[in-house]
Amino acid sequence: MRTPAGGDLLRMGKRDLLALSDLTSAEVRGLLRRAAVLKKRPAGSGARMPLRGRTLGLLFEKASTRTRLSFEAAMVQMGGQAIFLAGDALQLQRGESIEDTARVISRYLDGLVVRTFGQETLVKWARFARVPVINGLTDSHHPCQALGDLLTIRERFGRLKGLKLAYVGDGHNNVAHSLLEGTARVGMHMRIASPEGYGPDAGILRAARQAGRRTGARLELVRDPTRAVAEADVIYTDVWVSMGKEGEARRRMRALKPYQVNDRLLDAAGQQAVVMHCLPAYRDREISAAVLDGPRSIVWDQAENRLHIQKAILELLL
Ligand code: CP
Ligand code: NVA
Repeated sequence: MRTPAGGDLLRMGKRDLLALSDLTSAEVRGLLRRAAVLKKRPAGSGARMPLRGRTLGLLFEKASTRTRLSFEAAMVQMGGQAIFLAGDALQLQRGESIEDTARVISRYLDGLVVRTFGQETLVKWARFARVPVINGLTDSHHPCQALGDLLTIRERFGRLKGLKLAYVGDGHNNVAHSLLEGTARVGMHMRIASPEGYGPDAGILRAARQAGRRTGARLELVRDPTRAVAEADVIYTDVWVSMGKEGEARRRMRALKPYQVNDRLLDAAGQQAVVMHCLPAYRDREISAAVLDGPRSIVWDQAENRLHIQKAILELLL
């Protein structure tokens, strides 16, 4: 399978996860089931250590708390090791090419998680690495986040198909895009409410809608946040200024201000609605402190589930 954002599923016997569209519906469901099983197995309890002797590189060009730590902890708990590679500490900084670096590190590592800016940079890593490359966030995709989110929703509601997710805010970012690809694969309904100019990438939306035809997913765009959350099971938001967009901060704050997830917006949704945020969150910007810290917020379970889904992802790819 080849996708514009993603890579070849299978290249030289290795498999990459560059975008959620690299996975079929059945694979997404399989990962969620597996992660739920792994979650029940306490770490260090004599559990199977399927990654004993394996080493995962984490090459990050942007800040990270959850993605880095959940991959590092997952490797340790599965018997392997992770090595953190700060982008600016490598010879890349002095001009060594991605091509050469990828070839060299493939001789040491069994897999590589990359957090970078452009998706095309990630695709380049995948092309030249002989080991599986996993997207740890790019400007346009955050597949591991969306998989962890689906795990959290499934855990909460006991199912995914037919559930309604309202995404409110910056619809053109990595998390929104990966949620579109994810909800399409599990037959959920996703409604994005964003201001003009902040809607999702047209190509990603089109492909997700196509994938959703097989699962019964519905993916819609609206302007009005109140309309988006009506009857929603999940209300989701993310920061207004993603990493790398700091230069647009003022414009974004102004445009996105009416899209804050707060008590008033929650009143427009039913009692069933829970609130999610990939974190880090900026209280009283994209989400009010009362909602983030309130009883309907499931963000801490959501953050924990990053660990469990990473294990399932590593088992599949490594
Ligand atoms: N949600 C998420 O990816 O968090 P980090 O940026 O801390 O990894
Ligand atoms: N959209 C956010 C996600 C952070 C995990 C960003 O890219 O900064």
